[in-house]
Amino acid sequence: MKLLHFSDPHVQLPHWRERTLRELGPLRALATVELWKGRGRDYDFALERLHAIVRAGAAADHVVCTGDLTQLAHEEEFALAREALEPLRGKLTVIAGNHDRYPLGAKPNRLFEEHFPEHGCEVALAAGVALIKLDTSGAVSWPVISRGHAKKLDALAETLRAPSLSGRCKLVLVHHAPLRANGGGDLPWHSLAGARALLQVAAEGNAQAILCGHIHERYDVPAAPGRARVICAGSSTKRGDAGYWEIEIAAGEIASAVQRTL
Ligand SMILES: [Fe+2]
Ligand SMILES: [Fe+2]
Repeated sequence: MKLLHFSDPHVQLPHWRERTLRELGPLRALATVELWKGRGRDYDFALERLHAIVRAGAAADHVVCTGDLTQLAHEEEFALAREALEPLRGKLTVIAGNHDRYPLGAKPNRLFEEHFPEHGCEVALAAGVALIKLDTSGAVSWPVISRGHAKKLDALAETLRAPSLSGRCKLVLVHHAPLRANGGGDLPWHSLAGARALLQVAAEGNAQAILCGHIHERYDVPAAPGRARVICAGSSTKRGDAGYWEIEIAAGEIASAVQRTL
């Protein structure tokens, strides 16, 4: 079974440089400061790279995206991402990232749920694999302070123990990376609260790995006592570092994980 894991495509508004404050609203206009600082240039061709990933996904049995589909959680960005991912319908599992949950006015943004309604279930099953989702972004996320929270870990532990999943390769999907490439913690304003407990629950529940993104680096940290393996896909469409993981699964285990570059 071949699984393609990518993350953080960050599809952005076409012609974002010409959008006015009035059109974007104050919060999104504030968020474009990051784009102007260089991030926008890094993702000018994000949509084209996402199309390339989708073409590669044709050869995979299943495809996983661990969040941050958009830059500003803007309706147009979601529509573009949705359209690009359409060829993978039926073999795609997506979760939301913090960038997908920037509020609209004072209200939580439900555009992810509107554009990807079929991804609301907590466990997705593919051939021999159970993909268990844990939302670390919450209903509302803000620009700049992008901390995540690993909650409902008791429910995760119970799901991992479920007899219906035994014999399958169990993979936990989160957006926020529970550790860095060197095994240490992330920067406080960018990190995942509850990371240590998540790593332990996943290990005790015999999860083969935690798949994540958020940290824009691609790495694979092996399991250790009381700590599950972590595979981070980084940002799959970022200029100069576009790529994804190709994960082979056999007999309920990860047989290999290989990085592919675009
Ligand atoms: Fe990201
Ligand atoms: Fe993120």
